[in-house]
Amino acid sequence: MREEGLEVQVDQIGNVFGLWRGLRECDHCELLMGSHIDTVTNAGTYDGAYGVIAALECVAALRAAGVHPRRTIGVVAFTNEEGVRFAPDMMGSAVHAGALSLEEALASRDASGCTVASALARIGYRGETKIGSVRTSAFLELHIEQGPVLNAAGAGIGVVSGIQGIAWYEVELRGEANHAGTTPMSNRRDALVAAAELVLAVRQLTVGAAAISAATVGSLIVGPGEVNVVPGVVRMSLDLREPRPERFGTIAARVDAAIAAVVRATGVEVTARRTVHLPPIRFDESLTTQVESAAAALGCSTMRLVSGAGHDAGLMAKIVPTAMIFVPSADGLSHCPGEYTPAEQLVDGANVLLRVVWQRIRDG
Ligand code: GLV
Ligand code: MN
Ligand code: MN
Repeated sequence: MREEGLEVQVDQIGNVFGLWRGLRECDHCELLMGSHIDTVTNAGTYDGAYGVIAALECVAALRAAGVHPRRTIGVVAFTNEEGVRFAPDMMGSAVHAGALSLEEALASRDASGCTVASALARIGYRGETKIGSVRTSAFLELHIEQGPVLNAAGAGIGVVSGIQGIAWYEVELRGEANHAGTTPMSNRRDALVAAAELVLAVRQLTVGAAAISAATVGSLIVGPGEVNVVPGVVRMSLDLREPRPERFGTIAARVDAAIAAVVRATGVEVTARRTVHLPPIRFDESLTTQVESAAAALGCSTMRLVSGAGHDAGLMAKIVPTAMIFVPSADGLSHCPGEYTPAEQLVDGANVLLRVVWQRIRDG
């Protein structure tokens, strides 16, 4: 960002803003573009980073062409979009948008007890810029699709109409640790057996007339985790997704019912804490249409779709007109090292972003 002549500001939750100052004295950006640069463990290369690098590249191209914006253009890398070490996800954009308090975010702990505040301080990213002080008239995020839809349809650019709802839970199942050889099968309160039932019950939420779109148990920690001990405690994660608001609204009650059934059947105690609750959102129609027209003008085939993954744009949409641009993901792979998008498609996406920002500078 500094090499491109941007003024760098790091805010109190570690969001990194690069400001290309406009000719007018005004702190309010015409457009903020960006994404995130954190990843899941053993991640791919593109999720998040592509949107930040492409935004920076757009600024570089416009500067090289001698453009001088009247109002500031901003590039942002939001903190902790993935939420795998510290919940909730989309943390930096949630704090920026006022959907999560700075204090709550800084106090979030990882599995070892380390807080966001101390992790940020350790890497030198507990910045001083006041939360929300970098304001903008609009936000635009370019991202890989992370799924198979665009390739299946043969579309080059995804025009994202919204994001499906996301609910996360941290569940703890408490049974009784005991000897694996001497404890009769009828006398056990095996926390892992109860967890296994809950894994299958949660999967059932995606089946039948009231099915939600996706349910995943991605993390399971078994205690004490030894070969000859009946598991006494299990911690597991739930990740539930659904684009239809009415169905999303039923998720909490259905998770409660699934847990109650497991408790009745196994005698294991279960507590569940909801760590993320983000209802489905729709993006701004006017900015979305601008993206669609820009792609068409560049000769790209487009398709409207709802994002299966969560994005910082979902939080930004709470405070300013927001839209997203997707490029295809080879084999629909993401959150794994096989994540890939060919260079030509990455360039097409960046050119759509460039055209929209250029039009806003021209008309702004
Ligand atoms: C973000 O990567 C998500 O979990 O959807
Ligand atoms: Mn991402
Ligand atoms: Mn991701």
